[in-house]
Amino acid sequence: MNLRIVHSVRVPAGIICRVVSMLILSKTAGIFSRSPKSNVYGFLRRFSVCHGTLCPHKLVLGIETSCDDTAAAVVDEAGHVLGEAIHSQTEVHLKTGGIVPPVAQQLHRENIQRIVEETLSASSISPCDLSAIATTIKPGLALSLGVGLSFSLQLVNQFKKPFIPIHHMEAHALTIRLTNKVEFPFLVLLISGGHCLLALVRGVSDFLLLGKSLDIAPGDMLDKVARRLSLIKHPECSTMSGGKAIEHLAKQGNRFHFTINPPMQNAKNCDFSFTGLQHVIDKLIKHKEKEEGVEKGQILSSAADIAAVVQHTTACHLAKRTHRAILFCKQKNLLSPANAVLVVSGGVASNLYIRRALEIVANATQCTFLCPPPRLCTDNGIMIAWNGIERLRAGLGILHDVKDIRYEPKCPLGVDISKEVSDAAIKVPQLKIQLDS
Ligand code: KG4
Ligand code: ZN
Repeated sequence: MNLRIVHSVRVPAGIICRVVSMLILSKTAGIFSRSPKSNVYGFLRRFSVCHGTLCPHKLVLGIETSCDDTAAAVVDEAGHVLGEAIHSQTEVHLKTGGIVPPVAQQLHRENIQRIVEETLSASSISPCDLSAIATTIKPGLALSLGVGLSFSLQLVNQFKKPFIPIHHMEAHALTIRLTNKVEFPFLVLLISGGHCLLALVRGVSDFLLLGKSLDIAPGDMLDKVARRLSLIKHPECSTMSGGKAIEHLAKQGNRFHFTINPPMQNAKNCDFSFTGLQHVIDKLIKHKEKEEGVEKGQILSSAADIAAVVQHTTACHLAKRTHRAILFCKQKNLLSPANAVLVVSGGVASNLYIRRALEIVANATQCTFLCPPPRLCTDNGIMIAWNGIERLRAGLGILHDVKDIRYEPKCPLGVDISKEVSDAAIKVPQLKIQLDS
């Protein structure tokens, strides 16, 4: 498309479209009342020069509501983030001692329209300018997924846009391709509040699952330990997620005050377990409460030491399983021999201590270690929009008919080859994880 055609066709179409969208989304009037200057810049940002002419960028709106964050973003095919907005429910759920699904659903309902409006407004675009709408439909909390899906389908139907259903964990895994130049295949460790997975990423929707948590996820365990330690009452941690509070407090603690063995030391596979560790920490807290003469619900003077040891033990467990996964991939020639890449993502990957432990593993196995910045590790709309762009470019899973689309609270990631990993029974050499908190 050349510049002339762009001007004669797209501009009037865009203006008409804006008027239509103002009528349809009456509550979104604010989006379209931006200054002419910012509209010009917004308009120009939607084009790139290709072969000497201006071509419109593909733009995807991503919507995320799988858990407790209502998030949206517009990303273009070059990976530029045009705008984003997020509403976190962390503070509310901290007060109720965990996520209460109907409360999460209600908060998503209250915020989704505003978040999408703010995103479009920050991007200086109208829904008509979008190439597609991408939304997390699996896995996640049923009530939360439902809000994002029904809102998205309304937009899809009103603006006649293609719909791209997104797998939340695939989106976490591919975020790194937005921030870094990473080719397939690469190994990914996904650690969050709901998941713990090791997978080989061979393509946009081509994953081999090497191992996963047999019980709870590391983020869930850290959240439970933080609650048991009543960190919400700690003046420095009262608004932090459990995992973040543990990381913050661990910096002031001494992990050498306790010795705790990492879980599953004799299982030569890439699976994980965190329930046992949680129980050991529970018992330790009970013991310390007795010793310090502190009531349950009060803050222990040894809370920082406990945070340090739980963080260290978690890091060692994650490091050992990841080390085995790298050795397995190398043995089976699944990673590029010239440039093997380990990616770590998900909310728990924003923990810098855990990152450094995994970096030690990557260095010892001659892998390049990559992590998205912390704010792209926790849930966000950018990763969903980017996954939409990846799918659009690959021509995968773009729907023009959304009649049969349903959300799926449970959904595996990729093809499970964990039995093959377990059968290989790879012994992992000892690695010293010596880090300052
Ligand atoms: O990926 P995410 O935002 O949501 C899920 O898909 O689960 O991850 C949230 C989890 C929570 O369990 C939270 O405690 C944990 O990530 N988390 C952390 C840190 N920041 C968030 N865990 C350890 N250290 C952190 N700095
Ligand atoms: Zn997540």
